Amino acid sequence: MKRLVILISGRGSNLEAILEQIRAQGWPIQVVQVISNQPQAAGLEVARSYGIPGQALSAKDFADRDAYDRALAEIILRFQPDLVVLAGFMRILSPAFCQAFAGRLINIHPSLLPAFKGLDTHAQALASGVCVHGCTVHAVTPQLDHGPILAQAVVPVFPDDTVDQLATRVLEMEHQVYPLAIASILSGRFVLSEGRWIDRGFSEFGGDFSRWHVHPSL
Ligand code: GRF
Repeated sequence: MKRLVILISGRGSNLEAILEQIRAQGWPIQVVQVISNQPQAAGLEVARSYGIPGQALSAKDFADRDAYDRALAEIILRFQPDLVVLAGFMRILSPAFCQAFAGRLINIHPSLLPAFKGLDTHAQALASGVCVHGCTVHAVTPQLDHGPILAQAVVPVFPDDTVDQLATRVLEMEHQVYPLAIASILSGRFVLSEGRWIDRGFSEFGGDFSRWHVHPSL
């Protein structure tokens, strides 16, 4: 069994998609802990409904970012995860934290990076007039919304789209691409080496985790 720790801040729809696909595909992955920086996060309830232990770690209880990140790292390390997944975790992580989990820390960002970093990505996309938009799974580095890209999914942008319509379209793809990307790493198919994801050509889980498989819209 591969061990996964998932960090959240809010509603937890990506968390739910991950738990659902692990169950549906029978992947040998165990989500060993869900941690939220927001005690009220609806995602903690999602975890509970799947029988996954969850806990809150509020930044209010710590003097500064480094102290919070040290405590967070300590908790995560206790669970000995093979991979740490940020699923809507809305905090910037310190360089020391990113370093401690280098190569086994990933994030999903709701844009086709390197376009539209930061917040309000769908509004940024609409304002810029792009014809396509999407989401990106990437390894986390100390730089915000930066790091080796593992997977992306693309959606069209229609001329009369609202921010909400575009967000919904992208979120549907997030729910497909993130579970696949996670399985593609934990199955041993993709490994981070010298700043690039290397395709090792085989998967311990069976099934197809080729580069194209983890880009569901292509
Ligand atoms: C997602 O759009 C994710 O890409 C972004 O925050 C949102 C989290 O949504 N980082 P949820 O909590 O997974 O529903």
